[in-house]
Amino acid sequence: MRESNFLHKLRVLRVSVVNDFRLSTRDSVLPNAEISRWLYYLCRGVLPNMRIGILTGGGDCPGLNAVIRAVVRKGIMHYDDEFVGFMEGWRGVYENKTMDVDMDAISGILPRGGTILRTSRTNPAKREGGLQHCMEVLRANRVEALVAIGGDDTMSVAQRMYEVGLKVVGVPKTIDNDLMGTDFCFGFDTAVNTATEAIDRVHTTAEAHQRVMVVEVMGRDSGWIAMYSGIAGGADVILIPERPFDIEEVAERIRMRHARGRYFSIIVVAEGAKFAKDGNAPVVTDMGKDEFGHVRLGGIGQILANEIEHRTGLETRNVVLGHIQRGGTPSAFDRVLASRYGIGAIDQVHKGEFGVMVALRGTDIVTIPLIDAIHKTRPVDPELVEVAMGLIDPIPAVPVNK
Ligand code: F6P
Repeated sequence: MRESNFLHKLRVLRVSVVNDFRLSTRDSVLPNAEISRWLYYLCRGVLPNMRIGILTGGGDCPGLNAVIRAVVRKGIMHYDDEFVGFMEGWRGVYENKTMDVDMDAISGILPRGGTILRTSRTNPAKREGGLQHCMEVLRANRVEALVAIGGDDTMSVAQRMYEVGLKVVGVPKTIDNDLMGTDFCFGFDTAVNTATEAIDRVHTTAEAHQRVMVVEVMGRDSGWIAMYSGIAGGADVILIPERPFDIEEVAERIRMRHARGRYFSIIVVAEGAKFAKDGNAPVVTDMGKDEFGHVRLGGIGQILANEIEHRTGLETRNVVLGHIQRGGTPSAFDRVLASRYGIGAIDQVHKGEFGVMVALRGTDIVTIPLIDAIHKTRPVDPELVEVAMGLIDPIPAVPVNK
């Protein structure tokens, strides 16, 4: 098939520009070096090399370093970018705390949990003139675009910063897996594996002592970790924030199970799960709010254990997994997902389209407007609830003897 005249001209232009670019990189005194560099990139349909900021905000999770590594490796090796890391999330932007992020800084970080950039739950929008001040700091650092890695809080600040002119691309992180618009956040798979392994361990001791064991996992607004680890670990009852529960119904399920000969039970409860009788209020350990208005959750497992023991007469213990779920090395799935997100984010920066977050839809990495990711949290898929319900004892029409 004959190439159209236009395409042919474009190809000729591109070849000459590429040659010019190669010359210009070897001999940067050429007067047209900068122009040809721009043309070279434009002919590839991407923006030329940039100085890019990067930060990690909110609760940490396994895979943050893998994202940083992917963004920086592709940025430096394929786009000739330069990076400046902002320390401790948005606090680093507000307080101008930076670190150089080059190839040395990212060496060996792929399997490491936590984040080399550290993190915090800082909300500059809460400070008088905070967003404008952040813009000034970014300008002073000659930052042309920013990659913000975080959950809904970090993304909400990214959106506010986008509205005041920042060129920003978001990357979805949270072990809670509750960001809208993406099928999975990195960090979730590792947390689920950690929780599942813990449930397996609890299983053997529950069996040996003929006890009911309650395992409290993380999950502030959504019960993804509880649901996945509960199904994977063979839990007998799974309680999630999306469905406030009746404690007598939970006790009845345990009685049912024991009435048919089982002599131990496992209950998995998300920290944000609610007793229906409490008017859907979660159990909190600290009423003090962070800068995004969150109270500190925790403690539902022990209350539940006391109630179950009291109502069934079965010896019951509680285990809180807490931050163990957030620590440690990322799973292979999370390393791959984090790397895909990182590459997606840096490519997006060079496409020059901002105010978006990279996301997983099915098997594809796509982008969605930041605003779509933050308008509410993503509840557990009802189909998963059906799966869990299909695996446990149904409530009998006539209650089992108390
Ligand atoms: O990152 C989300 C989360 O894991 C929630 O499930 C939990 O409520 C919260 O972090 C706890 O965060 P921290 O104790 O680190 O402030």
